[in-house]
Amino acid sequence: MKTIIITGASRGIGLATAKKFLAEGWCVIGTYLNTSIPLQDDNLIAIQYDQSNSESIAKAVTQIKETSPHIDALINNAGILLDANDKTADSVKVRKTLEVNVVGIIDLTEQLLSLFQKGSHIVNLNSGYGSISAPILDDETSAGYRISKAALNMYTRHLAFRLEPRGVIVSSLAPGWVKTDMGYSGVTETEGPDRTPEQAADDIFQLVTTIKESGQFWRLGKKTEW
Ligand SMILES: NC(=O)c1ccc[n+]([C@@H]2O[C@H](COP(=O)([O-])OP(=O)(O)OC[C@H]3O[C@@H](n4cnc5c(N)ncnc54)[C@H](OP(=O)(O)O)[C@@H]3O)[C@@H](O)[C@H]2O)c1
Repeated sequence: MKTIIITGASRGIGLATAKKFLAEGWCVIGTYLNTSIPLQDDNLIAIQYDQSNSESIAKAVTQIKETSPHIDALINNAGILLDANDKTADSVKVRKTLEVNVVGIIDLTEQLLSLFQKGSHIVNLNSGYGSISAPILDDETSAGYRISKAALNMYTRHLAFRLEPRGVIVSSLAPGWVKTDMGYSGVTETEGPDRTPEQAADDIFQLVTTIKESGQFWRLGKKTEW
């Protein structure tokens, strides 16, 4: 049986992704912060940790290593959006966002590297807001979130390069605008999210199970610009 770690599996895209992989016969190690994972399944292992706290991450890594000698996929999905309605860059929010969306992901991933083998896939959940080249600076909001996702994209590129000799695949994936707690925090008077968490989960499943090319940024099943 293949094993996948999905961070932030308690709700939103992470929960839908956990359901998808369980339905496809995978063992899922799902993490959460405050909300326990609302699933009952013999193949689900739930682990609590705080991605902004290095001690908490280290404990989760110990639990994961006790549970599974190897990991076939890691979905770095847990993340926060604190400044969806801010039109300035608030340094307090930027610092907190970087801790969770960048530093915590790096801390967790680096401690798990020995568990990956040829063909294992690491997916970093990203966003159109993380693209520097795309003409998406369509409003003034979310400075900290955009900066964190752009930094996470560089981690994808850097890690893909480092793990290439081992045959471990590393990808960024933007799920589109999705109907989750986070998705609805960016709603405007004229626009709202148009994708379901299940559609995003399908994209993640397709990427993990079919794509062998490393170091790319994917959106809606196609490569997109960094
Ligand atoms: N929704 C969108 O439209 C959209 C668009 C582009 C990219 N994304 C990306 O997709 C990913 C998932 O988004 P979502 O919309 O599903 O978000 P969400 O509904 O807000 O869920 C966030 C998840 O992250 C966990 N989490 C938050 N802070 C954490 C921390 N400090 N430590 C550990 N876990 C933490 C939460 O756990 P608890 O439930 O326990 O609090 C929850 O499971 C994120 O990386 C997001 O940036 C989303």
